[in-house]
Amino acid sequence: MTSKLFDLTGRVAVVSGAAQGLGRAMALALADAGADLLVVDRNGDGVRQTADDVVRLGRRAIAETADVSDSVQIRALFARLDREYGQIDFLGNVAGDGTVGAPEEISLADVELSWRNLVFGRFCSCQEAGRRMLARGRGSIVNIGSIASVTALGRGHIAYSMAMGAVVQMTRELSTEWSGRGVRVNSILPAQIINPGLDARIAAEPELRNQFLKGIPTGRLGHPDDIKGLAVFLASDSSSWITGALIPLDGGNLAMNSGGTNPTCTATKGK
Ligand SMILES: NC(=O)c1ccc[n+]([C@@H]2O[C@H](COP(=O)([O-])OP(=O)(O)OC[C@H]3O[C@@H](n4cnc5c(N)ncnc54)[C@H](O)[C@@H]3O)[C@@H](O)[C@H]2O)c1
Repeated sequence: MTSKLFDLTGRVAVVSGAAQGLGRAMALALADAGADLLVVDRNGDGVRQTADDVVRLGRRAIAETADVSDSVQIRALFARLDREYGQIDFLGNVAGDGTVGAPEEISLADVELSWRNLVFGRFCSCQEAGRRMLARGRGSIVNIGSIASVTALGRGHIAYSMAMGAVVQMTRELSTEWSGRGVRVNSILPAQIINPGLDARIAAEPELRNQFLKGIPTGRLGHPDDIKGLAVFLASDSSSWITGALIPLDGGNLAMNSGGTNPTCTATKGK
């Protein structure tokens, strides 16, 4: 049974990117704590699977197939939310990938695509959710950022980093504008968390794994389930005085100076 501190019974949550990875883990954790869900992803089969799993946890779930880089599709899903639930208590803005390319070579179309996926999509969803939450005087929003929101990654991440930097400014501005009217806005900043894309990159370039681990003092990559407790906490009233926060989910990455040494990593022993 969920502790009363984190009980989400009677709450309605919208989570994007819910077919897999962090979005799916977030949706299942919120359902486990008592929330009903509207889950969104461009992967229809995947998001329906997540909705089925939410129902298995005893909660109500609606699966919506949509591309969150498109405001028309975002508005349509919020219209469906109004029809089906008439309420939103939590928004998890998780979906959206970036494009990779060297700053001197990346096409402006790819830069725009990253911006559309990560900034425009999150903002449009915040606007739709925020209007409804402000009308009721309560709500919580989490915008997933990245360690790239506050520090540079290199390796061709210019478009992604610029977009993720904008995501945390969005969070700060919206928190400042809305928290006095009951709507909290926070960001979670993950470091490398295993997903199929990361698995493929590590398979193609095995040394990457060690490179990532050198920056993670806990000595392991993240797992999507690592977001579960934080998501429930931020959706619950236990976090009612936490807003505008940028919360690392990074095994200690941001705390460690990038020039520092991870004492648990054999590759850096004695260096
Ligand atoms: N995994 C990491 O290492 C990491 C680190 C920092 C930040 N993040 C960010 O966290 C978020 C989730 O990452 P993840 O690891 O769960 O990724 P993932 O690739 O495992 O899952 C992303 C999900 O979002 C969906 N999606 C992507 N773009 C979409 C769009 N435009 N419209 C609808 N659905 C879309 C995909 O279909 C997929 O189901 C992303 O924004 C990512 O940039 C991830």
